[in-house]
Amino acid sequence: MRYDTPSLTRWNSRAYDSSFGYVSAKGAPLVELLDPQPGERVLDLGCGTGVLTAEIASRGARVLGIDGSPAMIEKALAQFPGIDFIVGDGHDFTVVEGYDAVFSNAALHWMSRDPERVIENVREALLPGGRFVAEMGGAGNCAELTAAMSTAWREYGLPEPGLPWYFPSPAEYAGRLEKHGFVVRLLEYFDRPTPLDECPGGAADWVRMFAANLLEGLPPDLVDPLLRRVNELAAPALRRETGWMADYVRLRFAAVRR
Ligand SMILES: C[S@@+](CC[C@H](N)C(=O)[O-])C[C@H]1O[C@@H](n2cnc3c(N)ncnc32)[C@H](O)[C@@H]1O
Repeated sequence: MRYDTPSLTRWNSRAYDSSFGYVSAKGAPLVELLDPQPGERVLDLGCGTGVLTAEIASRGARVLGIDGSPAMIEKALAQFPGIDFIVGDGHDFTVVEGYDAVFSNAALHWMSRDPERVIENVREALLPGGRFVAEMGGAGNCAELTAAMSTAWREYGLPEPGLPWYFPSPAEYAGRLEKHGFVVRLLEYFDRPTPLDECPGGAADWVRMFAANLLEGLPPDLVDPLLRRVNELAAPALRRETGWMADYVRLRFAAVRR
């Protein structure tokens, strides 16, 4: 599946940590899967504000965080001054020295322009035997959320929203990893319903945060009613008595460079 919408959506790094800190909080098991060792060189691809990068560094690994968003990197540098962070695109980065591991949480599905290029870059960044440990959205991720968006867009006479994500099936992604020289050691594909605790505005807040580029260029007075409609359409599936629940589906894997 390919999407043509640019994946480097503009991120609001302040709102990201306050409202969407669950993204990195949910990444803790992935750090356990990575099991970083003291002295290892680890690259965190799509590191965001650097919370998990810092967690990896706290285990004694030497870490570099790369993210496509200058605002995210600015915040990461401010929060964790002892760690190296640089702006870079997963489709287009090279490193001087090989890494023992590449880690990525909740970021690879944003690198949708050419997922194989991203895998190829990761392979090139790794030493032989180096591991690629990541979690991303899998096929069916946010299906209710995106269906509500499509319907609302259609009802308002707007063209189908060009969703910016790549949510592969396990078979598809494993095939791509193998094609690019990885041995897949572990691959999990699971539902992870996620409470949007910090989203009083429900699905509308989620769209504003994660699909903000789709709202750009719309007449400003259309945005609120459009998002209200997204909420109405998504509510039966995603609104519980306790609050909103996003229908996340995750792909988590550990692969080794041959
Ligand atoms: C949901 S955030 C996850 C951040 C962090 N890994 C975490 O667990 O909190 C996704 C990140 O991917 C970054 N990103 C999106 N497209 C990218 C690309 N093509 N290259 C590098 N980073 C990208 C975004 O800027 C954002 O910081």
